[in-house]
Amino acid sequence: MAEELQISGHSKEEKYHSLLPQIQALVDGEVDMVANMANTCAALKQYFQFLWVGFYLVKENQLVLGPFQGPIACTRIHKGKGVCGTSWAKAEVIIVDDVEQFPGHIACSLSSKSEIVLPIYNSSKEIIGVLDIDSDQLGSFDLIDANYLQQIIQLLKL
Ligand code: SME
Repeated sequence: MAEELQISGHSKEEKYHSLLPQIQALVDGEVDMVANMANTCAALKQYFQFLWVGFYLVKENQLVLGPFQGPIACTRIHKGKGVCGTSWAKAEVIIVDDVEQFPGHIACSLSSKSEIVLPIYNSSKEIIGVLDIDSDQLGSFDLIDANYLQQIIQLLKL
């Protein structure tokens, strides 16, 4: 494993292209889910300087805070609540350009302006959690992020 991330690329796509093999290298040979999720959060946050990157995991029919990087966050989210709980309930990737316009958005940090949440599936196609990323800029996320973040989730073999 490389000791430091090599950050390269100008466009968002180029950056994800260069990040993907580095995340692959980080998780190769490590089977522990928490360790791999933790390093993935650190890599994404460092690479893109997002405000917050983290996982919420389904436990007893709630989303419970898992590995993350960024400001402290709420620990439990009910199904259908907030962006995370809505992504889980609808089994959809949700991109929010302006969190103030999302009804029921849960504001863990007042600095959060836009957000993307992706459901995470196990091999039985059940949702076992979500990946949540917050930006301190409006409109940070689009289908390019959705596409590459889904590929990153696949690398984790959760
Ligand atoms: N904003 C999220 C809550 C989690 S924090 O962003 C870390 C939501 O509305 O579900």
